[in-house]
Amino acid sequence: MGNQIYEKLLKCYENAKAKVDFQPKVALVLGSGLGDYADHIRVVSTLSYRDIEGFPVSTIAGHKGRFVFGYVGEVPVVIMQGRVHYYEGYAMQDVVLPIRLMKLMGAEVLFVTNAAGGVNYDFHAGDLMMITDQISSFVPSPLIGANLDELGVRFPDMSHIYDVQLQNVIEQTAARLEIPIQKGVYLQFTGPAYESPAEIRMSRTLGADAVGMSTTCETIVANHMGMRVCGISCISNLACGMTEQPLSHKEVQEAADKAASLFQKLVTETIMEIGKL
Ligand code: HPA
Repeated sequence: MGNQIYEKLLKCYENAKAKVDFQPKVALVLGSGLGDYADHIRVVSTLSYRDIEGFPVSTIAGHKGRFVFGYVGEVPVVIMQGRVHYYEGYAMQDVVLPIRLMKLMGAEVLFVTNAAGGVNYDFHAGDLMMITDQISSFVPSPLIGANLDELGVRFPDMSHIYDVQLQNVIEQTAARLEIPIQKGVYLQFTGPAYESPAEIRMSRTLGADAVGMSTTCETIVANHMGMRVCGISCISNLACGMTEQPLSHKEVQEAADKAASLFQKLVTETIMEIGKL
């Protein structure tokens, strides 16, 4: 008997391949604040998640669910406009299916972006943070269950989830563009509730600089498959308990939108540099 998760992935792949003939080099996942990034690239085609048989479809307001295929400079990219979150109720295996699918389509590099709450007191709302490492221990591993040997090994090494060379590219690109960039560790909680002040104090004690509700599960499967990974968080707010204000999704979204133009510039120029590697 074949593995159901792998069979589902292959079915989505066959379905997508029949609809779009494009081989990306870089897979880019758009977080809040970068939602309209795909409007600024040279688009070749789009594919709505709902048009792929068996594909998990996102429900949250403001998240468009589609792949956009095109070019950033000369670099062929596939962009996930709208990701799938664990808090929406999907199985973790479904949350990461799109990442696996983009690898099957040909993507060698995974570039993740997200909005995150700053835990580090040196951070400010609107900062960009290059992710240097992550803490995924508060969400179930997407690799639980029979190993998909076709994709990777049972016990994958996670010493460098975020590729060191790609981190250098981000830092050098930010420096060239004179865009200030923080560095830090991203911790994923399940959400959908924002964290309590005690959870934020715990996160800081554990070594996190930012917290959010996505990403670490995606980068784990990317590493499992041997993709090179890099990521940038937009610090949309200081996390709960660090300021007087309560958190609202609207304010998080607005702060992320404000940082968007610098964020977009950094992502574009970084992808163009990655194209030269
Ligand atoms: N916590 C969790 N996720 C987030 C936050 C936060 O403070 N801000 C943006 N995404």
